[in-house]
Amino acid sequence: MTRAHNFSAGPAALPLEVLEQVQADLTDYQGQGLSVMEMSHRGKTFVEIAERAEADLRALLDVPDNYHVLFLSGGASLQFAAVPLNLAGAEQAVDYVHTGSWSAKAIDEAQKLASVNIAASAEGSNFAHIPAPEEWRLTPDAAYVHICANETIGGVEFHQFPDTGTVPLVADMSSTILSRPVDVSQFGLIYAGAQKNIGPAGLTIVIVRDDLVGHARAGTPSLLDYAPQVKNGSMYNTPPTFSWYIAGLVFAWLRQQGGLTAMAEINQRKAAKLYAAIDTSNFYQCPVVPEFRSWMNVPFTLADDALDKAFLAGAEEAGMLNLKGHRSVGGMRASIYNAVPEAAVDALIDYMQSFEKSHG
Ligand SMILES: Cc1ncc(COP(=O)(O)O)c(C=O)c1O
Repeated sequence: MTRAHNFSAGPAALPLEVLEQVQADLTDYQGQGLSVMEMSHRGKTFVEIAERAEADLRALLDVPDNYHVLFLSGGASLQFAAVPLNLAGAEQAVDYVHTGSWSAKAIDEAQKLASVNIAASAEGSNFAHIPAPEEWRLTPDAAYVHICANETIGGVEFHQFPDTGTVPLVADMSSTILSRPVDVSQFGLIYAGAQKNIGPAGLTIVIVRDDLVGHARAGTPSLLDYAPQVKNGSMYNTPPTFSWYIAGLVFAWLRQQGGLTAMAEINQRKAAKLYAAIDTSNFYQCPVVPEFRSWMNVPFTLADDALDKAFLAGAEEAGMLNLKGHRSVGGMRASIYNAVPEAAVDALIDYMQSFEKSHG
């Protein structure tokens, strides 16, 4: 068996041990004669899987007891709408920080549903930095302040989170969740699509403080309202059971690796060596200001974009996949999530150096 080095931004690499466990369980889960995909979400076996996954996620992130953890479907994109529907009235001000493509999408959706104030924008630097919180023009009585904790396309990440006082801070953590410890109590709500650091696509995690649940505006569809999901243990309707089960295996794997403190150490080291390889060459360049560079998504360009095709073809031949940058920005992007081993980053750096020697 050969496993490629997979630098996909999402759906992204999963730990090999998890995939092997899925394979072992696939047709006959623990002697029950059926797969997890084929069993009732309300049966004892799946309820145990679901509860274990939640307990492990709570342990990993040290989620305080006054927060609910929801396992939903619809992707992070559905949360772009669910957040204003649950947290804000139709005329109420909501503050958004615009740091790139994903915060822009969240803003577009919120503009349909609330009165959006762009508290700060990084447009001036072409989204190469995060505006200093002291400069944000916040609305004192805003329903919440929304940030994208890590812009997956631009490779810009919050390494510290602002204090928004009594106004709840809401974060799209799709591409950074579980990459390091976070203090959940700093947030009113965190959401994340699963397909980067959690598991397969189809599952979305929402971590929401209990006082923010139960205030959805009139007319909110039940599936967008957090309250019925809280009341029903994320089983108001049929949840994405197979993704939930695999997410549970990923959480258990992360705990075996030493939890998020251990992951943070590895992730920081992986990112640092890749950025160092870029910065010490005259051939590769990263557009992001160093203090805002993402640990998870590393965008870079070649000195001559006419070489992009050859770079990607050579990488693929050497077993390195999905390095092409997002179509909106071009260049390259290496997504180095938790499940991308350090050896893959080392192999990429070796390849980049040999490509530079032959083409630089
Ligand atoms: C930061 C961020 N937010 C939101 C999304 C949208 O997620 P989904 O496709 O699960 O709706 C993505 C997808 O890549 C993302 O990277």
